[in-house]
Amino acid sequence: MSVAPKTADEIAKMRVAGRLASEVLDFVTPHIKPGITTEDIDRICHEYMVNVQQTIPAPLNYAPPGYTPYPKSICTSVNHVVCHGVPGDKKLKSGDIVNVDITVIKDGFHGDTSRMFYVGQPSVQARRLCEITYDCMWHGIARVRPGVQLGDIGCAIQRHAEEKGCSVVREFCGHGIGRKFHEEPQVLHYGRPGTGLTLMDGMTFTIEPMINAGRAEIRGLADGWTIVTKDHSLSAQWEHTVLVTADGFDVLTVSAGTPARPDFVARPHG
Ligand code: MF3
Ligand code: CO
Ligand code: CO
Repeated sequence: MSVAPKTADEIAKMRVAGRLASEVLDFVTPHIKPGITTEDIDRICHEYMVNVQQTIPAPLNYAPPGYTPYPKSICTSVNHVVCHGVPGDKKLKSGDIVNVDITVIKDGFHGDTSRMFYVGQPSVQARRLCEITYDCMWHGIARVRPGVQLGDIGCAIQRHAEEKGCSVVREFCGHGIGRKFHEEPQVLHYGRPGTGLTLMDGMTFTIEPMINAGRAEIRGLADGWTIVTKDHSLSAQWEHTVLVTADGFDVLTVSAGTPARPDFVARPHG
């Protein structure tokens, strides 16, 4: 497998795209309250991207092989929806959890990030799942540095999820990102240490674990996109786009509203 590291110029553009993607989440955050529909969230994000940022919403009409073109500008995955939830006219209610996943294109480069949001007051179990999933993402990110293998990252994520009695979705993974939305390598959120691609300075990819409160199995809905848990248990996901640097990692999808990294992540690398 060949995964070309980015040049300094490409990395500079990735930083801009990453910040802009994160700023869409900052912008929409105050709107995510009981009574709003996921279509409203889509419209607010779309207008901000297109009119304010002059970015392109990468999901809109995105059509990987075997898929119908994605009809909206963002993904909104509520409660037992694992990923690729298509915004619609259902109102969010207090106690729901929702993942908002934003991918923008700026100057030819992609930035891809998602966060979980509580609608009103979350249940104890929902909050716990969202926090565990956030820590899963960071256990993966914290391992990133040249010489580390992708299996080391997947293993760190899987270990934390399973230690807490949760399960890792296997069918979807993180991905290389740059001029293309999804490029090599595939970044699995489970695995064995000492296996898989060895990281090199300059690589850019996402880490985006989908963690279920119940069993790992999923099912696809008839719309061709929405993925749900087979047992209808809650599912959560967080996503950052990261860069491998000489001494570790840089998170590219950062902005004023980015949640703080957990205490177990030793010291900021950027
Ligand atoms: N943003 C998702 C990811 O993290 C991909 C969504 S594809 C879409 O890879 F078409 F559903 F938007
Ligand atoms: Co992604
Ligand atoms: Co995404």
